[in-house]
Amino acid sequence: MSQFIKRFILFYIVCLFLIRSSAGEEVLSIIPEPVSKQLLRGEFILRDNTSINAEIGTLKNASTYLQGYISKKYGIRNKVVEKTPKKNFIRLSVTDTLKNREGYVLKVSNNSVEIAGASATGVFYGIQTFLQMLPPEAKCHKKIAVQAINITDFPRFSWRGQQLDVSRHFFPVDFIKKLMDVMAMHKLNVFHWHLTDDQGWRIEIKKYPLLTQIGAWRDSTLIGAYGQYPVMYDRERYGGYYTQEEIKDVVRYASERFITVVPEIEMPGHCISALAAYPELSCTGGPFGVGPRWGVYNDVFCAGKDKTYEFLENVLDEVIQLFPCEYIHIGGDEVPKDRWKNCNACKHRIHEEGLKDENELQGYFEKRIENYLHNKGKKVIGWDEIIDGGLPERAVVMSWRGVSGGIKSAKAHHYTIMTPFDPCYYYVYQGRYEEPLAGGDCNLASEVYNFDPVPDQLNEAEAEYILGGQGCAWSEYMPIGKIAEYMIVPRMSALSEALWSAKSKKNLSYFLERMNDQYLRMDYYDINYRVDYPANYGFVNRYLEEKVQITLDNIIPGSKIRYTTDGSKPVKSSKLYKGHLTLHLDSIKPVVLKSRTFMPNGRQSVVHEGIFVKLDWKASVFPEDAIQGLNFNYFEKELRSVEEIIGKPDRTGVNDSVISLNNITSNSFALVYDGYIKVPESTVYNFDLSNPKGKALLCIDDMKVVDNTAVLPHYFQGNGKIALKKGYHSLSLKYLTTDMGKRLRLGCHFNDKEIEEIPAAWFYH
Ligand code: ACM
Ligand code: ZN
Repeated sequence: MSQFIKRFILFYIVCLFLIRSSAGEEVLSIIPEPVSKQLLRGEFILRDNTSINAEIGTLKNASTYLQGYISKKYGIRNKVVEKTPKKNFIRLSVTDTLKNREGYVLKVSNNSVEIAGASATGVFYGIQTFLQMLPPEAKCHKKIAVQAINITDFPRFSWRGQQLDVSRHFFPVDFIKKLMDVMAMHKLNVFHWHLTDDQGWRIEIKKYPLLTQIGAWRDSTLIGAYGQYPVMYDRERYGGYYTQEEIKDVVRYASERFITVVPEIEMPGHCISALAAYPELSCTGGPFGVGPRWGVYNDVFCAGKDKTYEFLENVLDEVIQLFPCEYIHIGGDEVPKDRWKNCNACKHRIHEEGLKDENELQGYFEKRIENYLHNKGKKVIGWDEIIDGGLPERAVVMSWRGVSGGIKSAKAHHYTIMTPFDPCYYYVYQGRYEEPLAGGDCNLASEVYNFDPVPDQLNEAEAEYILGGQGCAWSEYMPIGKIAEYMIVPRMSALSEALWSAKSKKNLSYFLERMNDQYLRMDYYDINYRVDYPANYGFVNRYLEEKVQITLDNIIPGSKIRYTTDGSKPVKSSKLYKGHLTLHLDSIKPVVLKSRTFMPNGRQSVVHEGIFVKLDWKASVFPEDAIQGLNFNYFEKELRSVEEIIGKPDRTGVNDSVISLNNITSNSFALVYDGYIKVPESTVYNFDLSNPKGKALLCIDDMKVVDNTAVLPHYFQGNGKIALKKGYHSLSLKYLTTDMGKRLRLGCHFNDKEIEEIPAAWFYH
C-alpha cells in the first residue's frame, strides 16, 4: 500500500472517530458533568430480562431505586438477583479502589453495565448517571439501547446543598419529596430544612405543644413586595407544621436518595413565632403575634434568662432524636440587639460573664448552645453572623452575606459552606423582566453556573475548609410549590455542576445544550422550571435610526422564538424568529415587540414586552452664567412617589454630584436635583441610573430618560438612551427612599466610552 493510501485510511479512521465522539457528546446529556468519560463502540440493550445484580445488604436501597425508576418511567421490569449472571445484567458493587467516598465508576459494554461505587452513595450516583443515559422522556419501551462508555466520577465538594424555608410559606411533605427527587437527579446531597422563623414554627415539639398550636399559625400575610406602599395584608389565617411522624418520613425518603437532612432551628433571632407561644422567653414578656410581614423583628430570645437555654435544650433534644445527621443548624443571623440593651437579665448576663457588649452576648449564647450540642455528639452550623461575637469552637460557618464571612472562617480553620446571597439566593429574580414577584435583586442561572465556592483569597490549605455550597430558597415570594419550583430550577441544575464537576469541565454553552434533556427529565417529575424568554431588549429601547436589526436570544438551545409587533400575545402560530428581525421606528408611535420562547416539549416562557422608539436629536441650550454643581432640594419625609415631591423643601443648596448622600442621616427622604448637564460631544448617550432601595426618575430636556419608579414586580428600567447635541441640556433627577437605601448612582456610556459615574465637571446650574 502506498504511503499516501495508508495516510488516507488513517485520516479516514480518525475522522470517523471524531465524528462519532462529537455525535456522542451531543446525545450524552449528563448533569452534573462527570470528571471523565470515554465513549466506546457498541451498546448495551436494556430490556425486561436484564437483571440487576447487587449485594442485597448494603445496596438494597440503591438497587430498589434503580428498579423502581426504570419500571415507572419506561415500563421495563428488571429482577434484582444476588448471583451475577453471564450477560445482560446491571451489576452494582462497592469497591475499595476509589478514594472519594461518593465516587463511582460506570462501564457500559455490549454485555453488561457495571456500576462500582466507593460506597453505597457512590453506587447511587453511578445509577443517577446511568439513568441520564436513558431516554429523557417518560415513555414505555420494550428495549433501550445505551451507549457503551467508561465513566470515572467523583464530586469536587462534599456539601452540595439545597435549602428550603418552610416558615415564610409552608410546603407539604409531597412537595419536599419531589424536591428531593430532583436533588438526587443532580447529585445534591444535603437538604437544609429551615424549619423555624418569625412567620411560623413548623416542627412539632412534644414538650412544647404551643409552638405548633400557636406558633405555626399567623393571622395575616403581607401582600406584594416587602417595602411596597401602601402596606397591605390579606387578613387570612395561614400556617401548618410537620408532625414528628412526617419528619421521620421525610428523613427516610431522603436517606433512600442519599440525602442528609439538616434541620435549622433559628436562635436567638428570627423566633417571634416561638415567642408568640412562650412570651416569657423574650426580654419584655410580650405579648407577640406570629409575624405577618417579612424582614427582621426586634424581639428575640432573651439571652439573659436561664429558662431560654432550658427551653432550647429541650427543643434540641427532640430535634436530635428526629434527625440522625451529624449537623444541627442554629441560625444566628440578623439578631437586633435593641431588646438585650434594655433588659436587666441580659445586662446581668453580660456583667456576670465578663462580656464586652451585646455582640459578645450573642457569642456567649451560641457557644453555650454549641457546647450543649457538642456533648450530644452534634456539630453546629450557623450563618456567618456567628463570627461577629466570637466564633464557637468547632462551629461550621455558612457564609451568606457574600463570601467574606466564609473567607474569615476558612482562614480560622473552621469548616465553611458558601451560599453567598449573590448568586446562591433563589428568592430573587432570575430575569430582568416579566418575572413573578421576587426579592429585588437578580441572580441569573448563568451567574449561578459560574459560581466557585472557593474564593481566590484562600490558599490551598485554607480551601480544604470549604465543604461546598448550596442554593437557598427563602420562600417569602414562593407561596406555593409551583412557584418554588420556578424559582429553584434551572438554578439548581447550574449549581449542581458548580458543586460537583471538576473546575476544568465547566462550560456554560455545553451545559445549556445538555439542559435540553434535563428539562425533559424534570417533566417526568412535573417540575415547573423557568423557561427563559428572549431578554436581549429592555422595557424601553431607543435608537437614532429609523430601521434597526434586532437579535433575539434565550438560553435554551433548540427552542423556537415567536414574536409579534401588533400588540398581541405571541402564540404557536405567531411569526417565527429566524435569526434577525427588522423594526421600522417612529419617534411618535412606539413599536411594541412581544416575544416568547417555545420549547420542543411544548413548554412556553412568559411573554417579554418592550417598546422601540426613534430618537430625535435634542439641541443644546445656552444658559447664562452657568456655574458648576447641581441645585438640590431636600425633603425629610416619607414619600411614596415622585409626584408627591412638592412643597417647601427642608434644605436647599448646591451639590457637586448626585451621589453625595453620605451626610443624610434620615432613612426616609426625597431629593430633587436640577440644573444642566454639559455633554462633550454630539452623540447618543445611554444613562445608567441605579437606586436599588428607592425610586428615581431622570429627565433631560423634559424627556423621561430613565424611569425607575415602577412598582414591583417589574424590574426597573435601569438605563435609557437620548441623542444630545454637544453642550448644555437641562437635567432633573428625582429620588426618594424609605428603606435606608441611600444608594444612588448615575453613570453613562456613549460611543465606546463607559463612565461609571458622571464626573462633577459635567454638572452646572
Ligand atoms: C439570611 O439570609 N438571613 C441567612
Ligand atoms: Zn433579655
